[in-house]
Order: sequence, then structure tokens, then C-alpha cells
Amino acid sequence: LQPLWTVAEIVAATGGRAENLIDGPIAAISIDSRDIGFKALFVAIKGDTLDGHDFVPQALAAGAAAALVSEAHFRALGGQNLIVVPDTLKALENLGRAARARFRGTVIAVTGSAGKTTTKEAIRAALTPAGEVHASIKSFNNHWGVPLTLARLPREAKFGIFEIGMNHPGEITPLVKMVRPHLAVITTVAAAHLQFFNSVADIAAAKAEIFLGLEPGGTALLNTDHEYLHILFNHARKAGVGRIVTYGLDESADWHISNIEVLPTRTIAQVTHAENTYGLSIAVPGRHMIANAVAALAVASLVGEGTGPALQALAQFSAPEGRGETHRLGPPTKPLLLVDESYNANLASMAAALEVYGPVRAPGGEKVLVLGDMLELGAQSPQLHASLKDKVLAAGATRIFLIGPSMAALAAVLDGAPVAAHANTVEELSETILSGLAHGDSVMVKGSKGVRLAGLVKTIRDRFG
Ligand SMILES: Nc1ncnc2c1ncn2[C@@H]1O[C@H](COP(=O)(O)OP(=O)(O)OP(=O)(O)O)[C@@H](O)[C@H]1O
Ligand SMILES: [Mg+2]
Repeated sequence: LQPLWTVAEIVAATGGRAENLIDGPIAAISIDSRDIGFKALFVAIKGDTLDGHDFVPQALAAGAAAALVSEAHFRALGGQNLIVVPDTLKALENLGRAARARFRGTVIAVTGSAGKTTTKEAIRAALTPAGEVHASIKSFNNHWGVPLTLARLPREAKFGIFEIGMNHPGEITPLVKMVRPHLAVITTVAAAHLQFFNSVADIAAAKAEIFLGLEPGGTALLNTDHEYLHILFNHARKAGVGRIVTYGLDESADWHISNIEVLPTRTIAQVTHAENTYGLSIAVPGRHMIANAVAALAVASLVGEGTGPALQALAQFSAPEGRGETHRLGPPTKPLLLVDESYNANLASMAAALEVYGPVRAPGGEKVLVLGDMLELGAQSPQLHASLKDKVLAAGATRIFLIGPSMAALAAVLDGAPVAAHANTVEELSETILSGLAHGDSVMVKGSKGVRLAGLVKTIRDRFG
């Protein structure tokens, strides 16, 4: 088995030079000095708050085989086991491009306003029976996450799956041109990061940038169940995309989903494609989760792997952390049911989560809803928060807590609903929420990452688990 890289290969790919470093294998790439793998190359990247160059000594002390540093820092520091380049981020990108250039497997890219990570994980699950899969960890989907994931792509893997995200127009283009996917998936288009766009239509156009990096003859796989599909089609045609395949609830979808049944711990559905009908079952409740799984099923079919093993693998598929996992805390006969949606929120995922929570019955107590702000929605934010009214009412909670300044707009229109309290920060409400909870209740917690509801979820698990 060949190593991920050799020092000589990295020097060649980055146009750098080795300083007090002999050639040898590099088995991992790391940008975090606290997380140094065996024979790792530590790449010193400058982030928003920290500069990796300050951690080069720690990384080498922790066992890194070498560190990739910038010329400016090398002049100041000197040192052992270094690869020196003009710009470390550009070097990481070049390493990513070199990994892609030598790769003989199939590359899949996933973008969308919600469900990227979940869909990426569903695809990983569906393809794992077919061979070695390399995929982004967590949501490593930005200007450093994508090149890092690409630089880690093992040459012998069969599949590479890359999450690509964006907050601004123009961000996807350079990333997808590095990744050069054979297959590009767009999970959905919705109001997210709207403060950086004029309209959701502009968001659709920005997602469509993913077509610009598609390999010649590549395939676009598009979800049908949003209002911007025609925009994606137009852009795909303009970009010369060879083949467009669709999935979703819409009658027109090539992979058509019907008869969805949301059960307490699973979701089942029928999927029709060409002459075939499949029974799909996944280990997490939610109609939106079925859509993510069908994307994975379609990918398995499109890359030439059978649907059988994919369906079998997806039967075990459950939500990544904070994206709708249900915890039963305490006594099995009368647990506290906790639905953890604390990872993030925008209009699409809020609607999806409320829909899942609707049929949930508290085991024998209150049905509680804790909702935090959907951030980065710009001028339309109050109106978009208020627009949740009907969905919140339909969820049937007996007690509702609202957290964040933007939630004031929802609080104002939720007349008649049992709003227990609204506060601007989670700290102000935590104790009130916790002291009102008991075994037998159900509680769903959802809000944008910046509202920091994950801490509340952790406390609930600690106190009631
Ligand atoms: N297809 C979908 N439609 C709407 N919401 C979804 C969908 N899939 C997952 N979600 C919900 O959206 C939230 C975020 O999910 P996920 O992490 O998969 O999205 P993401 O696009 O990777 O987000 P990020 O931009 O933060 O990386 C979760 O609450 C999840 O349950
Ligand atoms: Mg993600």
C-alpha cells in the first residue's frame, strides 16, 4: 500500500522546499495541533482568530512528521522538519488538486441550503458496501475544509464525497473546480444566509455554481421539492451539464418518493425509478430524511453500484449529531423524550423539524418546544420568523420557549399559543426551561448554531439521562 503522500510529492505539488527534512511517507494531513495523526503533515493555516504558525512547535512535539509553513514565518522561526511555501492555504489547495489529478475513483459533490452533511453521510453509508469511501468530516465545506478533505483523498479509494458550502455568491466556483465531481447533488434551495443575497433566487444561482466544476459528461442530481428547480435547470443547461436526474416528491421526479410514513424511530417510503419500485426504510424519523436517503440511493445507482446493498445499508442510517436524533432519557417506562435539533436552523430545516415533531407524543407529560433564532436572514428576518407561526401551532406543543432577538417577531404573532417565555439569550432561560422539565415530557430544541442551544441539550441529557 502506498502512503497518502511522500515528502517529495508534497514538495512537488506545492512548489515548496524541504528544510531539514528528509523524504519519507506522510500518512495524514492535519491543521489542528491537538489532533496529529500518525506520520502527519501539519499545515499551518491562518484562521479568523488563530494562526496555525503559532502552533508549529506543538504540532511537531505531538509527533507531526513535518510542518508546512509560509516563507515569512520560516524566516522568523527557522527550525526542523519543515516544508516552506509562499502561502500555506494555496499550498493546501495545490495539494488537493494533485490528489484529485491522480485519483481514479468517482467523485461526488454535495451542496444545498440544508441537508448537505446528512446527505453526504447517507451517500457514505450507501456506497460503503461497494468499496473504500473517503468523505468530508463534519461540515468541512469551506475555503479550507474542501482543500483539506481533497488533500486527504487516498489514491486507492473508490469514492470521494465532498460537502461544498457557501455564504456568499462566488464561493462555490473555486471549490468545485478543485473537486471536479462526476456527480453533483443539490439537496434543496431555501432562505439561508439571505443577508448576503438579494433573493432566494440568487441563492439558487449561487448553488448552481456547482455545475461549473462538473467533469465533462457529468451528472447533476437535483431535488425537486422547492420553488427554484427551474433556475437550477437553466444553469445546468447553460453550463453544458450532460445529464440531469431528479429525485423527490414531485410527480416529475426520476426517483419518485411516495407513501412516506413517519414512525417514532424510523421512516419508510416507496421509491419508484424507471420500472422499479423500492421499499426504503431509514432509522430516523422525518420526511426530509427520506429525501436525503433517496439522493444516496440514486447516487448508488448512478455510479453503477447496485441499489440492493445501498437499501440495506440505508436501513441502518440515522441522523448525524444534533440533526434530529431522539434520546430517551431516564426510566424506560416514562422517559424524557429529547429531540436534538440544536446543530443549526434555517427556514428549510426549521419547517422540516417542526413537521417531524408534530406527531410526537409526550410519554406522559408536557410537550415542550424550544426554538432559537434563525441567523443571517437579513432584512427579511422578522417576517421570516413570523412566518413559522402555522408550523409552530401545528406542532402542538403545550409549552413554547423562544430564544433570540429575532424570535420576538414570532412571539408577537403566536397569540393564543402557549408561549411560556421569550428571552434574548439561552442563558436567561436555561434554568426556567430545565426546572419545568420532567420525565414523561417531550422536548425539541432547535436553533441556529450561534444561539448555542447545544449547551442546553447537553445539560438536559446530563440531568435527565
Ligand atoms: N433535505 C432537508 N431539508 C430540510 N432540512 C433538512 C434536510 N436534511 C436535513 N435537514 C435539517 O437541516 C439541519 C442541518 O442539516 P445538515 O447538517 O445535514 O445540513 P447542512 O446543509 O450540512 O448544514 P451546514 O450548512 O450547517 O453545513 C438539521 O436540522 C437537519 O435535520
Ligand atoms: Mg454541513
